[in-house]
Amino acid sequence: MTAIIDILLEEHRNIEKVLLVLEQELDVFDRGEQPDYEVLQAVISYFQDYPDCCHHPKEDMVFEKLKARDPVAAESIGDLEAEHQEESKRLHRLAQALENILTGREILRQSFDHIVRNFIEHERRHIDMEERALFPAAVKALRPEDWAGIDARLNDRQDPLANGDIEEKFRFLHQRILQWEEQTAAERA
Ligand SMILES: [Fe+2]
Repeated sequence: MTAIIDILLEEHRNIEKVLLVLEQELDVFDRGEQPDYEVLQAVISYFQDYPDCCHHPKEDMVFEKLKARDPVAAESIGDLEAEHQEESKRLHRLAQALENILTGREILRQSFDHIVRNFIEHERRHIDMEERALFPAAVKALRPEDWAGIDARLNDRQDPLANGDIEEKFRFLHQRILQWEEQTAAERA
């Protein structure tokens, strides 16, 4: 096997932490209190860039290898790329809804709640599908040379797939979001 599945699992855990922050802020909003809009904006900017730049390309590569080795298994997983695009659309709706709130435009509290919950729920479902279907299918079907090829790309500093500087930038943003949320929660308490 390869390190990539472990990396992807760790990335999922990190994404889940940010989803939890989003959910906590939404709970505050739903109680009629003011959420930390800076945190919400940081969460949105994290999702606007991080998955497409650093996470999805790794999954797409595993998926491409799976398609070549076991087309039937790949077929049963569906269209991963389309799912990732749907994610972007849902995020766009979320960003728009937040923008409406921040610029004082009319938006029903219920609509905002619905849009955010919808985003969180789909993200979690998508992560779950990848861990239950995609990763095990890849572990089963990929051959040592496939994993070696993936590892080689991950270790190649020139490869956009392993852009350490960008990953570092997002690690920083991720940490900041979690710290912010901790501070905000402490202030609320
Ligand atoms: Fe994923």
